[in-house]
Amino acid sequence: MPRATSADYGYLRDLVFDVSQNVLDPSRDYLFDTRLAMLLRNQGMTRVSELVECLRACRNPALERAVAEAMTINETSFFRDSRPFELLRTELLPRLIDARRPVRTLRFWSAACSTGQEAYSLAMLICEHFPLLAGWELRIEGTDICGEVVERARAGRYHRIEMNRGLPASYRVRYFDRIGEDWIIQPEVRKLCNFRQANLCTAHFPFSRASDRFDMIFLRNVMLYFSLETRLTLLANMHRLLIPGGILFLGSSEQPADPSQWTAFIAGGTCYFKPKASGFPTQASGARLDVAGR
Ligand SMILES: C[S@@+](CC[C@H](N)C(=O)[O-])C[C@H]1O[C@@H](n2cnc3c(N)ncnc32)[C@H](O)[C@@H]1O
Repeated sequence: MPRATSADYGYLRDLVFDVSQNVLDPSRDYLFDTRLAMLLRNQGMTRVSELVECLRACRNPALERAVAEAMTINETSFFRDSRPFELLRTELLPRLIDARRPVRTLRFWSAACSTGQEAYSLAMLICEHFPLLAGWELRIEGTDICGEVVERARAGRYHRIEMNRGLPASYRVRYFDRIGEDWIIQPEVRKLCNFRQANLCTAHFPFSRASDRFDMIFLRNVMLYFSLETRLTLLANMHRLLIPGGILFLGSSEQPADPSQWTAFIAGGTCYFKPKASGFPTQASGARLDVAGR
Protein backbone atom coordinates (compact mmCIF):
# COMPACT_ATOMS: atom_id res chain seq x y z
CA MET A 1 0.00 0.00 0.00
CA PRO A 2 1.48 3.42 -0.96
CA ARG A 3 2.00 6.18 1.59
CA ALA A 4 -0.82 8.67 2.17
CA THR A 5 -0.94 11.54 -0.33
CA SER A 6 -1.79 15.17 0.44
CA ALA A 7 -5.25 14.42 -0.99
CA ASP A 8 -5.63 11.61 1.57
CA TYR A 9 -4.72 13.96 4.41
CA GLY A 10 -7.08 16.59 2.99
CA TYR A 11 -9.85 13.98 2.99
CA LEU A 12 -9.15 13.20 6.66
CA ARG A 13 -9.06 16.88 7.62
CA ASP A 14 -12.47 17.39 5.99
CA LEU A 15 -13.81 14.30 7.74
CA VAL A 16 -12.62 15.53 11.15
CA PHE A 17 -14.18 18.91 10.47
CA ASP A 18 -17.51 17.33 9.49
CA VAL A 19 -17.65 15.22 12.65
CA SER A 20 -16.16 17.44 15.38
CA GLN A 21 -15.76 20.86 13.71
CA ASN A 22 -12.09 20.75 14.70
CA VAL A 23 -10.02 22.68 12.15
CA LEU A 24 -6.70 20.93 11.55
CA ASP A 25 -3.79 22.73 9.98
CA PRO A 26 -2.27 21.03 6.90
CA SER A 27 1.20 21.76 8.30
CA ARG A 28 0.42 19.19 11.00
CA ASP A 29 -0.75 16.37 8.72
CA TYR A 30 2.01 14.19 10.16
CA LEU A 31 -0.12 13.91 13.33
CA PHE A 32 -2.54 11.63 11.49
CA ASP A 33 0.20 8.98 11.28
CA THR A 34 0.87 8.94 15.02
CA ARG A 35 -2.63 9.54 16.35
CA LEU A 36 -4.29 7.00 14.06
CA ALA A 37 -1.69 4.27 14.69
CA MET A 38 -3.79 2.43 17.28
CA LEU A 39 -6.98 2.72 15.24
CA LEU A 40 -5.14 1.32 12.20
CA ARG A 41 -3.93 -1.65 14.26
CA ASN A 42 -7.44 -2.29 15.57
CA GLN A 43 -8.73 -2.26 11.99
CA GLY A 44 -5.98 -4.67 10.86
CA MET A 45 -4.47 -1.95 8.66
CA THR A 46 -0.91 -0.72 8.36
CA ARG A 47 -1.15 2.61 6.54
CA VAL A 48 -3.23 5.77 6.69
CA SER A 49 -3.82 5.47 2.93
CA GLU A 50 -5.53 2.11 3.53
CA LEU A 51 -7.89 3.70 6.04
CA VAL A 52 -8.71 6.53 3.63
CA GLU A 53 -9.40 4.05 0.84
CA CYS A 54 -11.77 2.14 3.12
CA LEU A 55 -13.56 5.33 4.24
CA ARG A 56 -13.90 6.50 0.64
CA ALA A 57 -15.26 3.15 -0.51
CA CYS A 58 -18.29 3.14 1.79
CA ARG A 59 -19.68 5.36 4.52
CA ASN A 60 -18.92 4.10 7.99
CA PRO A 61 -20.12 6.64 10.61
CA ALA A 62 -18.61 4.69 13.54
CA LEU A 63 -15.18 4.64 11.90
CA GLU A 64 -15.50 8.33 10.94
CA ARG A 65 -16.26 9.19 14.57
CA ALA A 66 -13.32 7.07 15.74
CA VAL A 67 -10.99 9.02 13.42
CA ALA A 68 -12.30 12.38 14.68
CA GLU A 69 -12.02 11.28 18.32
CA ALA A 70 -8.47 10.03 17.81
CA MET A 71 -7.50 13.47 16.52
CA THR A 72 -8.75 15.40 19.57
CA ILE A 73 -6.21 17.00 21.88
CA ASN A 74 -7.07 16.02 25.44
CA GLU A 75 -4.47 18.00 27.35
CA THR A 76 -5.76 18.93 30.81
CA SER A 77 -4.73 19.04 34.47
CA PHE A 78 -6.13 19.55 37.95
CA PHE A 79 -6.85 23.21 38.82
CA ARG A 80 -5.61 24.22 35.37
CA ASP A 81 -4.48 27.88 35.33
CA SER A 82 -5.20 27.99 39.12
CA ARG A 83 -6.54 31.58 39.06
CA PRO A 84 -10.13 30.80 38.02
CA PHE A 85 -10.35 28.33 40.90
CA GLU A 86 -8.91 30.86 43.33
CA LEU A 87 -11.50 33.39 42.19
CA LEU A 88 -14.24 30.80 42.52
CA ARG A 89 -13.22 30.15 46.11
CA THR A 90 -12.80 33.76 47.20
CA GLU A 91 -15.56 35.59 45.31
CA LEU A 92 -17.69 33.85 42.75
CA LEU A 93 -18.93 30.83 44.70
CA PRO A 94 -19.71 32.78 47.89
CA ARG A 95 -21.79 35.23 45.82
CA LEU A 96 -23.49 32.51 43.85
CA ILE A 97 -24.30 30.57 47.01
CA ASP A 98 -25.90 33.67 48.53
CA ALA A 99 -27.99 34.18 45.41
CA ARG A 100 -29.13 30.54 45.27
CA ARG A 101 -29.83 30.12 48.99
CA PRO A 102 -33.62 30.20 48.50
CA VAL A 103 -33.57 27.30 46.00
CA ARG A 104 -30.50 25.40 47.26
CA THR A 105 -29.51 24.10 43.83
CA LEU A 106 -26.36 24.67 41.80
CA ARG A 107 -25.51 23.35 38.35
CA PHE A 108 -22.12 23.45 36.69
CA TRP A 109 -20.98 22.21 33.29
CA SER A 110 -17.47 21.28 32.32
CA ALA A 111 -18.01 21.32 28.55
CA ALA A 112 -15.11 19.52 26.81
CA CYS A 113 -14.08 17.96 30.13
CA SER A 114 -11.43 15.61 28.72
CA THR A 115 -10.37 13.11 31.43
CA GLY A 116 -12.34 14.90 34.17
CA GLN A 117 -9.73 16.89 36.09
CA GLU A 118 -11.62 20.18 35.61
CA ALA A 119 -14.89 18.78 36.99
CA TYR A 120 -13.18 17.01 39.89
CA SER A 121 -11.16 20.15 40.73
CA LEU A 122 -14.41 22.05 41.12
CA ALA A 123 -15.98 19.22 43.14
CA MET A 124 -12.98 19.04 45.50
CA LEU A 125 -12.95 22.82 45.91
CA ILE A 126 -16.60 22.70 46.93
CA CYS A 127 -16.06 19.81 49.38
CA GLU A 128 -13.07 21.58 50.89
CA HIS A 129 -14.38 25.12 51.24
CA PHE A 130 -18.16 25.00 51.07
CA PRO A 131 -19.28 22.09 53.27
CA LEU A 132 -22.64 23.78 53.79
CA LEU A 133 -23.50 22.74 50.20
CA ALA A 134 -23.68 19.11 51.36
CA GLY A 135 -27.44 19.53 51.83
CA TRP A 136 -27.96 21.23 48.45
CA GLU A 137 -28.85 19.74 45.11
CA LEU A 138 -25.50 20.05 43.41
CA ARG A 139 -24.60 18.76 39.96
CA ILE A 140 -21.39 19.00 37.95
CA GLU A 141 -21.90 17.75 34.41
CA GLY A 142 -18.88 16.81 32.32
CA THR A 143 -19.11 16.17 28.57
CA ASP A 144 -16.60 15.47 25.84
CA ILE A 145 -16.79 14.26 22.25
CA CYS A 146 -14.13 11.63 22.86
CA GLY A 147 -15.54 8.41 24.34
CA GLU A 148 -12.20 7.20 25.65
CA VAL A 149 -11.58 10.29 27.82
CA VAL A 150 -15.16 10.22 29.11
CA GLU A 151 -14.60 6.63 30.26
CA ARG A 152 -11.45 7.74 32.06
CA ALA A 153 -13.30 10.66 33.67
CA ARG A 154 -16.02 8.29 34.89
CA ALA A 155 -13.42 5.96 36.36
CA GLY A 156 -11.77 8.92 38.15
CA ARG A 157 -8.50 7.03 38.16
CA TYR A 158 -5.25 8.90 37.52
CA HIS A 159 -1.61 7.96 37.17
CA ARG A 160 1.00 9.39 39.53
CA ILE A 161 2.22 11.74 36.77
CA GLU A 162 -1.27 13.21 36.25
CA MET A 163 -1.64 13.57 40.02
CA ASN A 164 1.53 15.64 40.14
CA ARG A 165 0.06 18.20 37.73
CA GLY A 166 -1.72 20.95 39.66
CA LEU A 167 -3.16 18.92 42.52
CA PRO A 168 -2.18 20.12 46.01
CA ALA A 169 -0.72 17.30 48.13
CA SER A 170 -3.37 17.82 50.81
CA TYR A 171 -6.14 17.22 48.22
CA ARG A 172 -4.47 14.02 47.06
CA VAL A 173 -4.45 12.68 50.60
CA ARG A 174 -7.99 13.79 51.40
CA TYR A 175 -9.87 13.01 48.19
CA PHE A 176 -8.06 10.05 46.55
CA ASP A 177 -7.24 6.45 47.43
CA ARG A 178 -4.06 4.88 46.16
CA ILE A 179 -4.03 1.78 43.96
CA GLY A 180 -0.43 0.95 43.00
CA GLU A 181 0.84 3.69 40.67
CA ASP A 182 -2.68 5.12 40.32
CA TRP A 183 -4.99 7.14 42.48
CA ILE A 184 -8.77 6.90 42.43
CA ILE A 185 -11.18 9.67 43.36
CA GLN A 186 -13.24 9.09 46.51
CA PRO A 187 -17.00 8.47 46.23
CA GLU A 188 -17.79 11.71 48.12
CA VAL A 189 -16.32 13.71 45.21
CA ARG A 190 -17.24 11.26 42.46
CA LYS A 191 -20.96 11.41 43.29
CA LEU A 192 -21.10 15.15 42.53
CA CYS A 193 -20.01 14.60 38.92
CA ASN A 194 -21.77 13.05 35.98
CA PHE A 195 -19.86 12.37 32.75
CA ARG A 196 -21.15 11.59 29.29
CA GLN A 197 -20.07 11.69 25.68
CA ALA A 198 -21.47 14.64 23.73
CA ASN A 199 -20.53 16.71 20.72
CA LEU A 200 -20.75 20.47 21.26
CA CYS A 201 -21.10 21.06 17.54
CA THR A 202 -24.10 19.06 16.36
CA ALA A 203 -27.76 19.79 15.94
CA HIS A 204 -28.31 17.53 18.99
CA PHE A 205 -26.72 19.98 21.38
CA PRO A 206 -26.34 18.56 24.91
CA PHE A 207 -28.72 20.00 27.48
CA SER A 208 -31.17 21.47 25.00
CA ARG A 209 -34.29 21.47 27.21
CA ALA A 210 -35.46 24.74 28.71
CA SER A 211 -34.94 23.25 32.21
CA ASP A 212 -31.27 22.43 31.43
CA ARG A 213 -29.80 25.69 32.62
CA PHE A 214 -26.51 26.24 34.39
CA ASP A 215 -25.10 28.61 36.97
CA MET A 216 -21.62 28.20 35.58
CA ILE A 217 -20.14 26.80 32.39
CA PHE A 218 -16.47 25.97 31.84
CA LEU A 219 -15.74 26.07 28.12
CA ARG A 220 -12.00 26.17 28.42
CA ASN A 221 -9.34 25.37 25.85
CA VAL A 222 -11.65 23.93 23.22
CA MET A 223 -12.86 26.89 21.15
CA LEU A 224 -9.37 27.34 19.80
CA TYR A 225 -9.94 24.23 17.67
CA PHE A 226 -13.09 25.66 16.05
CA SER A 227 -13.77 28.07 13.18
CA LEU A 228 -15.25 31.49 13.91
CA GLU A 229 -18.63 30.35 12.64
CA THR A 230 -18.63 27.32 14.95
CA ARG A 231 -17.61 29.49 17.91
CA LEU A 232 -20.47 31.89 17.26
CA THR A 233 -23.03 29.09 17.20
CA LEU A 234 -21.55 27.41 20.26
CA LEU A 235 -21.43 30.63 22.27
CA ALA A 236 -25.03 31.43 21.33
CA ASN A 237 -26.00 28.01 22.75
CA MET A 238 -23.99 28.63 25.90
CA HIS A 239 -25.63 32.04 26.26
CA ARG A 240 -29.04 30.39 26.17
CA LEU A 241 -28.05 27.76 28.73
CA LEU A 242 -26.70 30.11 31.39
CA ILE A 243 -29.17 31.35 33.98
CA PRO A 244 -29.41 35.12 34.46
CA GLY A 245 -26.25 36.07 36.31
CA GLY A 246 -24.54 32.82 35.27
CA ILE A 247 -20.83 32.73 34.54
CA LEU A 248 -18.83 31.47 31.58
CA PHE A 249 -15.15 30.61 31.92
CA LEU A 250 -13.05 30.40 28.78
CA GLY A 251 -9.41 29.37 28.44
CA SER A 252 -6.87 32.07 29.27
CA SER A 253 -6.22 32.81 25.58
CA GLU A 254 -9.86 32.59 24.46
CA GLN A 255 -12.53 35.27 24.04
CA PRO A 256 -16.20 35.20 23.10
CA ALA A 257 -16.51 35.44 19.32
CA ASP A 258 -19.40 37.89 19.67
CA PRO A 259 -18.64 40.46 22.39
CA SER A 260 -22.06 42.06 21.94
CA GLN A 261 -23.52 39.02 23.74
CA TRP A 262 -21.15 38.95 26.71
CA THR A 263 -19.84 41.22 29.41
CA ALA A 264 -16.28 40.46 30.44
CA PHE A 265 -14.95 40.92 33.95
CA ILE A 266 -11.44 40.78 35.23
CA ALA A 267 -10.91 39.87 38.84
CA GLY A 268 -7.86 38.33 40.48
CA GLY A 269 -6.15 38.28 37.08
CA THR A 270 -8.92 36.04 35.71
CA CYS A 271 -11.33 36.88 32.95
CA TYR A 272 -14.86 35.55 33.06
CA PHE A 273 -18.03 36.40 31.17
CA LYS A 274 -21.71 36.97 31.78
CA PRO A 275 -24.48 36.90 29.21
CA LYS A 276 -25.39 40.49 28.39
CA ALA A 277 -29.11 40.10 27.96
CA SER A 278 -29.39 38.65 31.45
CA GLY A 279 -29.80 42.04 33.09
CA PHE A 280 -27.58 40.84 35.94
CA PRO A 281 -25.95 43.72 37.82
CA THR A 282 -22.26 44.35 37.22
CA GLN A 283 -20.04 42.53 39.67
CA ALA A 284 -18.94 44.00 42.95
CA SER A 285 -15.19 43.95 43.13
CA GLY A 286 -13.63 43.07 39.77
CA ALA A 287 -12.82 45.63 37.11
CA ARG A 288 -15.17 45.52 34.15
CA LEU A 289 -13.52 45.01 30.83
CA ASP A 290 -14.60 46.16 27.42
CA VAL A 291 -14.03 43.02 25.35
CA ALA A 292 -14.61 44.82 22.08
CA GLY A 293 -11.71 47.08 22.91
CA ARG A 294 -9.23 44.29 23.67
C1 LIG B 1 -7.51 20.64 25.43
S1 LIG B 1 -8.85 19.73 26.07
C2 LIG B 1 -9.46 20.85 27.30
C3 LIG B 1 -9.92 20.14 28.56
C4 LIG B 1 -10.35 21.07 29.70
N1 LIG B 1 -11.50 21.84 29.33
C5 LIG B 1 -9.23 21.96 30.13
O1 LIG B 1 -9.27 23.16 29.88
O2 LIG B 1 -8.27 21.46 30.73
C6 LIG B 1 -10.02 19.91 24.75
C7 LIG B 1 -11.12 18.86 24.78
O3 LIG B 1 -12.14 19.27 23.86
C8 LIG B 1 -12.73 18.10 23.32
N2 LIG B 1 -13.46 18.44 22.09
C9 LIG B 1 -12.94 18.80 20.89
N3 LIG B 1 -13.94 19.00 20.01
C10 LIG B 1 -15.10 18.79 20.66
C11 LIG B 1 -16.46 18.83 20.29
N4 LIG B 1 -16.85 19.14 19.04
N5 LIG B 1 -17.40 18.54 21.22
C12 LIG B 1 -17.04 18.22 22.49
N6 LIG B 1 -15.77 18.15 22.90
C13 LIG B 1 -14.80 18.43 22.00
C14 LIG B 1 -11.54 17.18 23.12
O4 LIG B 1 -11.93 15.82 23.03
C15 LIG B 1 -10.68 17.48 24.34
O5 LIG B 1 -10.86 16.55 25.36
